[in-house]
Amino acid sequence: MPNPGRSVPKRSSVEGTLHILLLTTGSVASVKAPLIVKELLNYEKTQVQVVSTKPSMHFFDADALEADNVATGVKVWKDEDEWDTWDRMGDPVLHIELRRWADVVLLAPCSANTLAKLAAGLCDNLLTSLLRALTSETSKHLFPAMNTCMYLHPHTASHLSVAEQLGWEVGQPESKALACGDVGMGAMMDWRDICLLVAGRYGRNRKAGAPEVPRKVPVVDGITAAPKLEVEQTV
Ligand SMILES: Cc1cc2nc3c(=O)[nH]c(=O)nc-3n(C[C@H](O)[C@H](O)[C@H](O)COP(=O)(O)O)c2cc1C
Repeated sequence: MPNPGRSVPKRSSVEGTLHILLLTTGSVASVKAPLIVKELLNYEKTQVQVVSTKPSMHFFDADALEADNVATGVKVWKDEDEWDTWDRMGDPVLHIELRRWADVVLLAPCSANTLAKLAAGLCDNLLTSLLRALTSETSKHLFPAMNTCMYLHPHTASHLSVAEQLGWEVGQPESKALACGDVGMGAMMDWRDICLLVAGRYGRNRKAGAPEVPRKVPVVDGITAAPKLEVEQTV
């Protein structure tokens, strides 16, 4: 039976509201999902929904993310929701409803696997079915996140090139110490920069009284400290 408690919210009737879909995949950078959601909601006229692959769910607590954002109606949509919300002809089809809802999609982080599927047009889960259903009406941003060897593999450049041809704007990854222990290119663009990019690109004003985002590099007694290699800075 369809689960009426799990339906895609209506688009806001407030003019100028930006409906953002955050799509997370099985990169360790998915640990940043709760921070990205919270920060995007610090801007006026912004609504957020999340769609996550199964591997992505290892990196953050979807129930906690929903519980922390009850007031703003953020839901984390998973593969099982696709079928839990459909029972018979006439029921809404989740990946199409989510596509209709979104003005902007942020594929952050984008794993090597999902990037390859996007380039090939595969659609074997909720997230990739949604990707396949997107049209030019939706703005699309992709933020690769993977081990350096995966990033430097020739497949990556080829798949990113296809993604760009399909209308995706690619956010440059960073070079740093990665969670796997390697040092090099492939870390997802800093989550704060992703949010700043969205705010700037889509003209969002920060809500009055919204807390300041912590700086990327800690400042101690006026001296910029060298970044520490901790989880905060390795994905
Ligand atoms: C601990 C751990 C961290 C991983 N980090 C990454 C990563 O940063 N980037 C990546 O492309 N794959 C990473 N993987 C591999 C993906 O999770 C795997 O390829 C998976 O099939 C991706 O599926 P999805 O694209 O459907 O989310 C990681 C796997 C594990 C176990």
